[in-house]
Amino acid sequence: MSLISGKEIEIIRPDIIVDDIEVVLYKRTMDPRMAVNTLKNGKYVLIIDYYSSGLMILNELKHQLIKKYAAQSFQAQREFRADFKELSNRLLLVVNNHQLKVKKAPQIGWFKILYPEIIEFLVAFPQVQGLNSSWQWYEKGIAIPVLNQKIHPFFGTYFPTRFEHLKLFDHWLKKYKGDKETAIDIGVGCGVLSYQLLNHGFKKVYGTDTNPNAIVGLENEIEKNKLNDKIALFHGDLFADIKDKTELIVFNPPWILASHQLEGMDQAIYYDENLFSRFFEEAQKFLKEDGRIVLLFSNLAQITKENETHPIADELAKGGRFQQELFLQKEVAPASKKTRRNQTWRDTEKIELWVLKLIEN
Ligand SMILES: C[S@@+](CC[C@H](N)C(=O)[O-])C[C@H]1O[C@@H](n2cnc3c(N)ncnc32)[C@H](O)[C@@H]1O
Repeated sequence: MSLISGKEIEIIRPDIIVDDIEVVLYKRTMDPRMAVNTLKNGKYVLIIDYYSSGLMILNELKHQLIKKYAAQSFQAQREFRADFKELSNRLLLVVNNHQLKVKKAPQIGWFKILYPEIIEFLVAFPQVQGLNSSWQWYEKGIAIPVLNQKIHPFFGTYFPTRFEHLKLFDHWLKKYKGDKETAIDIGVGCGVLSYQLLNHGFKKVYGTDTNPNAIVGLENEIEKNKLNDKIALFHGDLFADIKDKTELIVFNPPWILASHQLEGMDQAIYYDENLFSRFFEEAQKFLKEDGRIVLLFSNLAQITKENETHPIADELAKGGRFQQELFLQKEVAPASKKTRRNQTWRDTEKIELWVLKLIEN
């Protein structure tokens, strides 16, 4: 539990097993096919020698399932993924004193940070792989061109891997002539937009996010960087517990309309159909009379799906609340030759920056 802006926040962490359960022990001198059969029989397999033994079993499992679901159909691929997920999650490792209890295992600092109070537990191998790659990103950091600094994404938090929209926002901030007392950053994530706002002279930023891990992770970074009096964080939906009106609201929302129930990190990529109407309704209350909303978006949905509507254009077309002050578009650099074959739609993808103002009565 962390206490942020007066609220207790519980972070999301992978499920672990603390109870005594029956397991079949596995060493690499054994046949991985035996381990896969055990998983298929609904039992747990526990790796007790090397980390790589788990990788060998997962390879064997993949190999067998690829054969089983050889058809390229959507349905076959879905069943392949579901089976792989179910079976691989019965492959376990022991964590003792925040370390994996097998040889040649990666060091993963998340065990201590996410489970400080638990001395010994079992965790599924794929979860360990996810924790490991997240730890690598966190430790190394990600260089963000417009910031001249690295960000360190907390476990389970969205971070940008393409930067065109950040460059577009920076370009706009350079020309911005309005007040710079406060700004609100909705869906703050790792805080990239908030840092940009501070770098361009804003005195205070209020950031919100529905993802508790984003809020807890960014709070730690803010403390490390001594920015506590510059950025205030709130866990919750849209404007959460923010009280003040501001001259600037920025939102880099999810860009794709969801066709499934949203859970976890999905909320960074997919939006439910009410998100934008709720955002615009609320935004009216938090904007000073002369204030602006800046939204970063993309035409991704329009160019990949027919008849897809555009939530910002829709809001403006409906009228009544906001008017457009500015609209900037920037082509996304074509994908590299290597990845291009399957991604020709990226050639016409454009990043968008929308600036809206309240309609004067
Ligand atoms: C595309 S990411 C952008 C993150 C960050 N602002 C950036 O530009 O790198 C969208 C963020 O919005 C958050 N989010 C999604 N729905 C939200 C909502 N209803 N209220 C607050 N935050 C939300 C997600 O958890 C995610 O962190």
